[in-house]
Amino acid sequence: MQKLYEQLYSDIKDKIVSGFYPNAHKLPSIRDMSYQQSVSISTVQEAYRLLEDTGFAKSKPKSGYYVQLPEANIQLPDISQPKQKPVDVGHWEEVLALSSTITDKGFVAFGRGNPDISLNSLKPIQKIHTQIAQNTPEEIYRNEVGIGFKGLREQIIHIMKKSGCNLHPDEIIITTGCQEALSLSFKALTQPGDIVAIDSPSFYGSVQAIKSNGLKVLEIPTHPETGISLSALEMALEQWPIKVIQLIPTLNNPLGYIMSDEKKQKLLKLATQYDISIIEDDIYGDLIYQNPRPRTIKSFDTDGRVLLCSSFSKAIAPGLRVGWVAAGRYSKVITHLKYITSLASTRLPQLVVTQFIEQGHYEKHLRVAKQQYQQSRDSVINWVQKYFPEGTKMTYPKGGFNLWVELPKQVDTFVLNENLKEFNIGIAPGALFSCSGKYKNCLRINYVSKPNKAIEQAIKTIGEQAALLL
Ligand SMILES: Cc1ncc(COP(=O)(O)O)c(C=O)c1O
Repeated sequence: MQKLYEQLYSDIKDKIVSGFYPNAHKLPSIRDMSYQQSVSISTVQEAYRLLEDTGFAKSKPKSGYYVQLPEANIQLPDISQPKQKPVDVGHWEEVLALSSTITDKGFVAFGRGNPDISLNSLKPIQKIHTQIAQNTPEEIYRNEVGIGFKGLREQIIHIMKKSGCNLHPDEIIITTGCQEALSLSFKALTQPGDIVAIDSPSFYGSVQAIKSNGLKVLEIPTHPETGISLSALEMALEQWPIKVIQLIPTLNNPLGYIMSDEKKQKLLKLATQYDISIIEDDIYGDLIYQNPRPRTIKSFDTDGRVLLCSSFSKAIAPGLRVGWVAAGRYSKVITHLKYITSLASTRLPQLVVTQFIEQGHYEKHLRVAKQQYQQSRDSVINWVQKYFPEGTKMTYPKGGFNLWVELPKQVDTFVLNENLKEFNIGIAPGALFSCSGKYKNCLRINYVSKPNKAIEQAIKTIGEQAALLL
């Protein structure tokens, strides 16, 4: 339940975002706003303070509050310039260390890629679990051989309609998380030694799947807001025998970019022209802050060359390990690969997710989670602007919970991360997101937690420690 001042904050923020109150516009005085909205002076004061904390307003002494659009003050990182030749994937030890960081109470885990699992809107998961255990205990012991539980596959096609996809339940293969979906897709499409084109920076988990299949990666220059450069990709396609393009075109990890529909269509056209496949990772797609959610590349695919991979690890919880792939013309191959890799998936989490969606909890939870993430984005960006060294650049994510930050060149974020251990803080060092030694001065910050003083202090500490490395 939102408090009155939070409701007022959201209403004013919506008016700022929609342009009703333009940048630099003076907001009504506290007294006028209190009169207009029939709320107390202290409610308006709290709402205005929150607007200031989240970077949407600035108070000027003896003058009042003025609109300040966070986006207007952000300096985006430049388009990336990775090495223009295929390279081997490294960094396994560092990826393992980051993924298995022990996050005891008090540790501020900015480095991990997990959603907030403490939200009350996830509580129905526990209830559904208990009901299944009580009413049909045999379900706990069952597995699900083949392409997975039909009820879940039907819910997935229903959800994916919002991304413009018209899938059939039999096209969906349930996997153990999105990681397995990606891994099986690489296996189905490539032979050792093949080249995969990826966006850059790129999610370190999928490049480890590339590594395990004995493949090389070619990192393509990528813009932090519009995504992979199609002209650079076309040049690369002319020069190298690329077998597959793999990317996260909607709410990219780590950059947060969203490729436009037009760009997605052009990318598919290129893939068709060179007769190669696309592995599209859509794991963050449902976490867009403003509806409607963007279309997938898959939604434009008419000949089954796009393999759409996803899971409920970001939108619900990573421990469920419920993922899936819509594999187009590779469905049969992937079904076989799933069988030989892990035989079956656990049935219980599939039933739980199905009921969570069927009973309407999924949509409700998305609303709650996205509202929190958006609010934390605004606070964290505001604090990064306030506490990080001059010259810091960052993205402005429109969904999900990852912020990509570029510090001045001298700062090595592996060293920064080491130094932050003393303060019980973890970040994801930028170098993990490149196979060719790029992004050493960058970091990814996970901003899922509800903004509070401890988070602000942790961001301040990162800024101070970064400044010591200049
Ligand atoms: C972009 C992306 N793809 C795939 C995965 C793996 O997801 P899962 O936990 O469902 O295997 C992650 C997890 O961090 C991710 O960020």
